[in-house]
Amino acid sequence: MKHFLSLENHSVEDLEAILDRAAQLKSERKRTDFRPLDRQTWGLLFAKSSTRTRVSFEVGIHELGGCPLFLNMADLQSGRGEPISDTARVLGRMIDGAVIRTYEQQDLLEFANRSRIPTINALTDQEHPCQIMADLLTIREKLGTVREQTVAFVGDGAGNMAASWIAAAKKFGFGLRIAAPRDFWPKQTDGRPLSDQIILTSDTAEAARGADVLYTDVWVSMGMEAEAEEREERFRRYQINRETIAATGKSPLVMHCLPAYRDKEISEETLEDHQQTIFDQAENRLHAQKGVICWLLNA
Ligand code: CP
Ligand code: NVA
Repeated sequence: MKHFLSLENHSVEDLEAILDRAAQLKSERKRTDFRPLDRQTWGLLFAKSSTRTRVSFEVGIHELGGCPLFLNMADLQSGRGEPISDTARVLGRMIDGAVIRTYEQQDLLEFANRSRIPTINALTDQEHPCQIMADLLTIREKLGTVREQTVAFVGDGAGNMAASWIAAAKKFGFGLRIAAPRDFWPKQTDGRPLSDQIILTSDTAEAARGADVLYTDVWVSMGMEAEAEEREERFRRYQINRETIAATGKSPLVMHCLPAYRDKEISEETLEDHQQTIFDQAENRLHAQKGVICWLLNA
């Protein structure tokens, strides 16, 4: 049984194969006779809000011939305390695949183990691997290759997107700089560099210097709303704006996983200047996820 729960679990060859498949599915989107999910129902179990992930999976599953079933976890009995292990064993007998957005990675792993159906991580507090696949697809489209780029991530270095970038950099071997306040550096470090290839700094301009890609994410992730005021104060210098772009000394790709909070993690003018890349990136969620599903099914 194949799952897509964490980038860590997959070889770079598998990840490249998913990206190749995604690019092919994108170029053949109007092809109607490819229905690997024919007569299948895939459940989307979401415990957090979503626009892009929900819609791209619902549309993608439909385009691959299957039926998507959206289940707000607050409305399920799990919202009243039914253990994830029981939900998984029930759904595993009824649906053919699961796409899960929740808080703890551990709950996702438990669902995958107990349900015995292909399970996809649609974001946890720890990782957002589907987003990274769309991001890598976008970089490949715009810059030709991922491996030779230097990516600067500016903002919450301890969040799920920074962790996913670290996992991707380790797999693909590209350079990664993370600019964040020291106590928001990735959790797996105690302030030490992760490797020569992955550099941590509290200086946004230093991270940006020479970068080919500038990337940011919200300062306040879902579930962290109680820390919003403190975070907005602490992250004030960690914004992508025209100054950050000038610090690269290049014309970098500017990327954002969205939703974007204007004049917080990205300036309004920078978001608008780079809207073509950012909304291509959002569209690529659809193609990348279809690539993941086909890879899971060997289709
Ligand atoms: N980037 C992303 O995952 O967006 P949603 O929260 O809207 O799904
Ligand atoms: N880090 C953000 C990503 C949103 C797509 C969050 O978890 O809310």
